[in-house]
Amino acid sequence: MKNLVVLTGAGMSAESGIQTFRDADGLWEGYDVMEVASPQGWYKNRELVLDFYNQRRKQLFAVKPNKAHLLLAQLQGKFHIDIITQNVDDLHERSGSKNVLHLHGELLKVRSTTNENLIYSWTGDLKTGDKCETGSQLRPHIVWFGEAVPMLDKAIELTKKADILVVIGTSMQVYPAASLIHYIKDNIPIYFIDPKPSINQNNFSNITIYAEKASDGVEKLVQNLNNELMC
Ligand SMILES: NC(=O)c1ccc[n+]([C@@H]2O[C@H](COP(=O)([O-])OP(=O)(O)OC[C@H]3O[C@@H](n4cnc5c(N)ncnc54)[C@H](O)[C@@H]3O)[C@@H](O)[C@H]2O)c1
Repeated sequence: MKNLVVLTGAGMSAESGIQTFRDADGLWEGYDVMEVASPQGWYKNRELVLDFYNQRRKQLFAVKPNKAHLLLAQLQGKFHIDIITQNVDDLHERSGSKNVLHLHGELLKVRSTTNENLIYSWTGDLKTGDKCETGSQLRPHIVWFGEAVPMLDKAIELTKKADILVVIGTSMQVYPAASLIHYIKDNIPIYFIDPKPSINQNNFSNITIYAEKASDGVEKLVQNLNNELMC
């Protein structure tokens, strides 16, 4: 089976009802991202940050995977699929996708503020006073702006092995995630799905752009890949 690597961003979950950043003027659900997604924001107002992610966690239980998530999961028998997502939601997993790497962390996990390897599953609210096993305050397991991206090397390794690359719903503004596309093997097919695609077509020799929302773009992708499999 060919290796299909899929890079997804906030646009992947837009049709599930989770807002993207860029479509909301750089706000995340109405909040300035530096207030809620940076170490500075955490030191400035921990309660605000905890409350923000508590709300996001609650929202997750009210939304469902959309058609694009489901169609990708259904491709699994035909390709070996690795999904590298910038999203912190769990909609890929809930649609049945097996190999999902979260580059920017996960809403349903928390971690110690003093030891990043102490990570716990968490479904309820996180509060001041909730501590890890060594007694330090817990924080959301989210990679904030300015922080290292611990899963980056693994993501690069997967991207290098791609026979086909699919990019869905990302503005390609957040680094190092946006740089992953440059690690692919020469001339492999790239499919880029985004209603406002921000990619320079001239930099890639074999790119197909579907300037559409994720569900329509993934439907076309699946048709195209099925046609190729039959040839
Ligand atoms: N669902 C989530 O987990 C979530 C939501 C908001 C922000 N974030 C975080 O924000 C950062 C933002 O970077 P980003 O590039 O992922 O998002 P972004 O907000 O910068 O860009 C979103 C992209 O999605 C596209 N888009 C909008 N509606 C779409 C649709 N229906 N189908 C397909 N594409 C659509 C937009 O045109 C845009 O290019 C990420 O690091 C991510 O962790 C995550």
